[in-house]
Amino acid sequence: MVAATLEKIRFEKASATIGARVAGVALDQAATPEVMQVLREGLHEHGVLFFEFGQIVEAAEFARFSELFGEVEPVYGFSTKDEAVSAVKPGESCIDARLQPLKQYRTNMWHSDGTPFERPPQAAILTPVEPPQLGGGTMWSSMYAAYEGLSSHYQRLLEGLEVVHGTMRTPFVKETAQMIHPAVIRDPVTGRQALFVNSIYSERFLELSERESDSLMHFLFEHVNTPEFHVAITWKPGTVAVWEERVTQHRAVDSFVGQRRLRRLTIKGDKPAA
Ligand code: SIN
Repeated sequence: MVAATLEKIRFEKASATIGARVAGVALDQAATPEVMQVLREGLHEHGVLFFEFGQIVEAAEFARFSELFGEVEPVYGFSTKDEAVSAVKPGESCIDARLQPLKQYRTNMWHSDGTPFERPPQAAILTPVEPPQLGGGTMWSSMYAAYEGLSSHYQRLLEGLEVVHGTMRTPFVKETAQMIHPAVIRDPVTGRQALFVNSIYSERFLELSERESDSLMHFLFEHVNTPEFHVAITWKPGTVAVWEERVTQHRAVDSFVGQRRLRRLTIKGDKPAA
């Protein structure tokens, strides 16, 4: 029975470097240790997994499905200064482009979630409540590919560096946070190294002068934007995307027709390690 369930789970690559479409997993799939292990391995290998369930996934179904990927965080992230957004946030886990314009809230910049915290989320999950009629998709960039795409000289330089992550570029948040993480981390499941520098939260390299740090940051922010590292989707009713936060970055596409509302949950993580 377990073997038959596991045999049905299939990962089909969505691009040469990142992402896979998953078949053989039901929306009400039981979270057995075996299924969770197969999905965990697939998630760490491909970085982002896409599921299609054909119709809008309701809040309770979404919460249950998310448990396949680990322990769901009760609340993720920062509270905002904006009262309208703060009012819908607690327990709502919804990204509504009318209340949180993507550009203003920086979700259209490449980032990994929560890196100013000691334990950023390990994974995040999105599904549309109201998908845009046109455009407004989400993109992911592989941080394995970003690291592996650097020369060995740059790799060696970065391996010795630490990065201060903070809330300097998110003036809309109420509280501030700061944390130091390695510039290059190692994924505990695949053993592969990944670049861990992102353009919303990474502020400076601890060991470099300000000029050296600014210039290297600028180069890496551009590097993450290399199309060969990317995969993109547009949202349909019933699409669910799950991504591993440490080995990918993501950004919303801020050009769409109609409304754009996405349900979102995150999975608890631990401190990223080199
Ligand atoms: C996010 O940054 O988590 C949201 C991405 C999106 O709205 O597409």
